[in-house]
Amino acid sequence: MSSFFTNLTKTHIMDFNLTEEHLMIRDAARDFAQTELLPGVIERDEKQEFPQELVRKMGELGFMGIMVDPKYGGSGMDSVSYVLIMEELSKIDASASVMVSVNNSLVCYGLEAYGTEEQKQKYLTKLATGEVIGAFCLSEPEAGSDATSQATTAIDKGDHYLLNGTKNWITNGGRSDVYLVIAQTDREKGHKGINAFIVEKGMEGFHIGPKEDKLGIRGSDTHTLQFNDVKVPKENRIGEDGFGFKFAMKTLSGGRIGIAAQALGIASGAYELALKYSKERKAFGTEICNHQAIAFKLADMYTEITAARHLVMAAACKKDAGENYDREGAMAKLYASKVAMEHTVEAVQIHGGNGFVKEYHVERLMRDAKITQIYEGTSEIQKIVISRSLIRE
Ligand code: CAA
Repeated sequence: MSSFFTNLTKTHIMDFNLTEEHLMIRDAARDFAQTELLPGVIERDEKQEFPQELVRKMGELGFMGIMVDPKYGGSGMDSVSYVLIMEELSKIDASASVMVSVNNSLVCYGLEAYGTEEQKQKYLTKLATGEVIGAFCLSEPEAGSDATSQATTAIDKGDHYLLNGTKNWITNGGRSDVYLVIAQTDREKGHKGINAFIVEKGMEGFHIGPKEDKLGIRGSDTHTLQFNDVKVPKENRIGEDGFGFKFAMKTLSGGRIGIAAQALGIASGAYELALKYSKERKAFGTEICNHQAIAFKLADMYTEITAARHLVMAAACKKDAGENYDREGAMAKLYASKVAMEHTVEAVQIHGGNGFVKEYHVERLMRDAKITQIYEGTSEIQKIVISRSLIRE
């Protein structure tokens, strides 16, 4: 099985002024993906599981707190390093990379940027090392794209908030210890009445529903969560009263760069497999890459994947430069996820009948690609973010 991925060692990265350190980080992620994630990736997809041992190893390599300050146990790397790691992991196993992405961009970033020192010491230090992992709980049965319409309530009871409601499609939902939960505290204030809270697994009234049976990223752990009169201590609120919606928007902006890099990895993994296969498979007396029908597909794939990589890198560089990256992150996600969806389908087509068979990997990449157009904001939401920023300018 692993032979299909052999020789997929060259990532087609143009010169983005990557430092020696960036290249070392990328190589470490690639080696980990090849040696640790590739064996068993098909079985994990089939059984919908992801062993804790692999999470632990990703933590040891510093992948669970990539951008977190070392004083909180993180790796202290930049966003460019983050997208390089995300791409390499996603080429082989997008279920692993979504765990990494949510833990890094939504949970660790959210706590490091907006948490109190006490919250950072108590939660971030464990999340950044991978000792525990985290989940980000915004979506609800009736509030996915329309994120201000939170039905989950958190009523101020003096020294605590009383949390009630349901959260849907929560990545890392079953295996997390720390949950960042968005809830409405004062409906009359609209989005200014929304807060974000740190909820711990095991708090009374917090129930984890059954695991979702999904089309793709099946190794990742997705659950519905139920909160029934959960007492959340006041010190677990993140930021000032009413900051919750902006907290969600700000963390999701960075999250979109991570998912864009995931989509890029899925697309480039599929492209590399398709290129290799087309150089080996013969039809009508020659390797199929010599037929223009296939060669043109490869040309389109490579061109569009390279364009996606430029957008992903541009967004990461803007973040590293301390500039606003909302639009760039949305553009990168919009485009990279479209490229991932379209070109994983092409990779299956190039593989012909073999593309429909699990052991060739491309059908899994095609199934995994679809979620990148849905989570952390659908493609339509990215267009809202981009167009609003253009109109405002
Ligand atoms: N940074 C800071 N503030 C922001 C912001 C940002 N990026 N985006 C919006 N805001 C602020 C606005 O300035 C506004 O504040 P003021 O009133 O003070 O000016 C406030 O937030 C409300 O903004 P909008 O009026 O633009 O809000 P809206 O209701 O029109 O919604 C939206 C905007 C972009 C559609 C937003 O609702 C959105 O992003 N929806 C998608 C949510 C999403 O991504 N869900 C995915 C779930 S998480 C997930 O998938 C994780 C996982 O498990 C993998």
